[in-house]
Amino acid sequence: MTDERGWVPIALSGTIEASTSTGVIIGGEEIVVWRDSKGAAHVWEDRCPHRGMRMSFGFVRGDHIACLYHGWQYDTGGQCQYIPAHPDLEVPKTIKIPTYAVAEKGGIIWTSLAAEGADPAELPDVAGSATPVRSLYVDCPLDLALGLLARTALPGETEPAQCKTISGNLVSLSGAGLRLIIALQSIGPAKTGLHMVLIDAAPGSVARVAKWAEGLRLSLESQPALAEVA
Ligand code: FES
Repeated sequence: MTDERGWVPIALSGTIEASTSTGVIIGGEEIVVWRDSKGAAHVWEDRCPHRGMRMSFGFVRGDHIACLYHGWQYDTGGQCQYIPAHPDLEVPKTIKIPTYAVAEKGGIIWTSLAAEGADPAELPDVAGSATPVRSLYVDCPLDLALGLLARTALPGETEPAQCKTISGNLVSLSGAGLRLIIALQSIGPAKTGLHMVLIDAAPGSVARVAKWAEGLRLSLESQPALAEVA
């Protein structure tokens, strides 16, 4: 089982553009990940303290994000700095959104829900130049997905790839001239995200692996395969 207090992958870096936000789920907890206009990523609880609107629906402007509902504006530390209905109010310091540690490595955005944060030095090293392939979301528990990946053949192969666990939620599949890194995100008891990057990708290999991933989805969601690993 993945340790949701340690580093957890939540998206491919390239999928979150500057000045945008999106919602993700880690083990059932709703999280917003957003980038300010300078490109720095921020990961917070996905809930506005005012009336509970999801901050992932909000608007990023410069170095702050504004809630969609009544426009309260929060700085990069999660602190509310401006309430449009009360423009002269000095906003109480208690109006603050819980924030989480965030780091980017190997083309992947990672976060930790640990209260004291997590050390970026603990992030696994994938050694090489990472090229994003795609994220895949499957109806399959994380532990079963890990078991099935160990029996999976890469495109053009019939035998299972060489599968190596780099850390609890990061595996490497090697073979057929490919080295594919898959970072697994537990979304819920039966839903897993797989964020894929190729290391030192050869020309044409990204498209080939992206297409292969559709077959991987079918395999991971197939009931006989699930029963076999369970
Ligand atoms: S719910 Fe966010 S500003 Fe009102």
